[in-house]
Amino acid sequence: MTKKINNNRRQFLQNSAVGVAALTTFPGVLLAQSGPLRKKATPNFKADVEIEFVSRDVYVSILKTGRKTKVQKYYAKLLKGPKNTLVELKGNYLGPILNYVKGQKVRIYYKNMMSEPSIIHWHGLHVPQDSDGHPMYTLAPGQSHIYEFEVMNHAGTSFYHSHSHNLTAEQVYKGLAGMITVTDEEEQKLDLPRGEYDLPFVIQDRTFNAQNQLQYLHGMHGRMTGFLGESILVNGLPNVEFFVKSRAYRFRAVNGSNSRIYKLGWDDGTPLTAIGTDAHLLPKPETRPYLMLAPGERIDLWLDFSGHAVGSELVMYSLPYEGAMPPKMEAQRLGKKSSGGMGMGGGMMGGGMMGMMGSRLGQGDKFPIATFKVTEKVSDSPKLPKTLGQFERLTERDVDYKNKPIPIGISMKPMRPQLNGKSFSMNRVLDFEKVELGSIKKIKIFHDHGSMKMKEGEKMDKDMSAGNMNMGGGMGMMGGMGGGMMMSMAHPIHLHGQQFQVLSREIEGMRQEEYKTVKEGFLDTGWKDTVLVMPGEEIVIAKPFQDYKGLFLYHCHNLEHEDLGMMRQFYIS
Ligand code: C2O
Ligand code: CU
Ligand code: CU
Repeated sequence: MTKKINNNRRQFLQNSAVGVAALTTFPGVLLAQSGPLRKKATPNFKADVEIEFVSRDVYVSILKTGRKTKVQKYYAKLLKGPKNTLVELKGNYLGPILNYVKGQKVRIYYKNMMSEPSIIHWHGLHVPQDSDGHPMYTLAPGQSHIYEFEVMNHAGTSFYHSHSHNLTAEQVYKGLAGMITVTDEEEQKLDLPRGEYDLPFVIQDRTFNAQNQLQYLHGMHGRMTGFLGESILVNGLPNVEFFVKSRAYRFRAVNGSNSRIYKLGWDDGTPLTAIGTDAHLLPKPETRPYLMLAPGERIDLWLDFSGHAVGSELVMYSLPYEGAMPPKMEAQRLGKKSSGGMGMGGGMMGGGMMGMMGSRLGQGDKFPIATFKVTEKVSDSPKLPKTLGQFERLTERDVDYKNKPIPIGISMKPMRPQLNGKSFSMNRVLDFEKVELGSIKKIKIFHDHGSMKMKEGEKMDKDMSAGNMNMGGGMGMMGGMGGGMMMSMAHPIHLHGQQFQVLSREIEGMRQEEYKTVKEGFLDTGWKDTVLVMPGEEIVIAKPFQDYKGLFLYHCHNLEHEDLGMMRQFYIS
């Protein structure tokens, strides 16, 4: 018996043209048609919320002094629906916050007013293929598309951003992103912080030049490990301070960075409490010494300032950690000598790798994210609830083909990070990427080092740590299996459509010491749509494929990797 994840959804979609019947054609055929863009509103889709969206190239003042910064920005106008559906975040590049209610039917008219192609994806929302912002719907300048979907998600935090293949990383970097919240009856019954006590916490890193302009990567090298910026922005602004009362708050942390992974924590070791991950409330609050937040992930934090005197100041940091980058780069960052015998020589592994280091703020370095200043004493704080969302734990018993999970093998060929040994292709799916509508699949995400099998790869790890490998240097090594290992790094893997649950996490190989610095920060107890896979890690998930047929992407949410082709898709039929 297959569990039905989205109970009590309205019957409407199933019976309408927007429902499952719309996409039974084979992907190739679909793409060959004049174009899949929806130009006209579907008459029998009675929207509760209607929004007009545009993306524009504009100048905004982000930095306090000096020139305005050229960005790409979403603007939206509410045509129909509750007033609080759109909340502007003034004075920066982020799009408005979208506040939805479960069960609402939403229609969005999106027009691309920029000078380059683009499309919007609602990361975390479970919507039909033609409203998911698949890159096949990419809009040329001046073109438009109409999204129509019912909000089927439970209460939680999501994130929208551009998803036009090869341009995603740079467009998100230049500003094309925003936060989404969903609320439902169940959440309304809980005594959670609301209104002014429920705040966005979108974390991004950017590099500004002396003219206040955003600097992105030049050339291929940096793209292979991903962009790392030098200033940390919260809700689109640098050096952010929150003036808080002595009570509990909900901060919706969204990692909207291209490739930076944060280890959220207080400096003094005070633990952090979370109430939600990736578009869902957790079954119950979870407390950890620190929390890892990879690109695309969200964590709803319960920050309680109750015990703090007026005048006190707390600083949220990204605490130091290790192991997210390839071994050689980690060694350089930490100023350690790399293990003997790994003669790096010239070529890519020498100067090239150095060049890749890019930012002065390395992946895993410690830095402050935002300051919280307690400015007022109050006594009306809500208490942390014992339990939160309704939750059904998926187990091995709920998945099809227990013994033959669908693989997501991560590999790093020279300039080609890939999944399952293939780069993204708009209209092709592998056999095991075809899944039946209504199924729940077991999926195994692992590091696939070149053409070698896992077992031999593991042996290789040991050989390398013993320092007895003749690396030979240059591209030859990079192309081989050793190269895969040498480039082994952390990848946040994201799957479109419904959220999934983590069944297990295992780590093998030589990087377990480094792993100890991140280990306690993973929150796998609830629903997720993005999961950080550290080097040597193998993660097994249970993922439902229900409600909608069609093409749904899975990819690395290191946006540089995604654009380099580290993306594939499932065909649900
Ligand atoms: Cu947030 Cu396919 O992406
Ligand atoms: Cu997504
Ligand atoms: Cu990646």
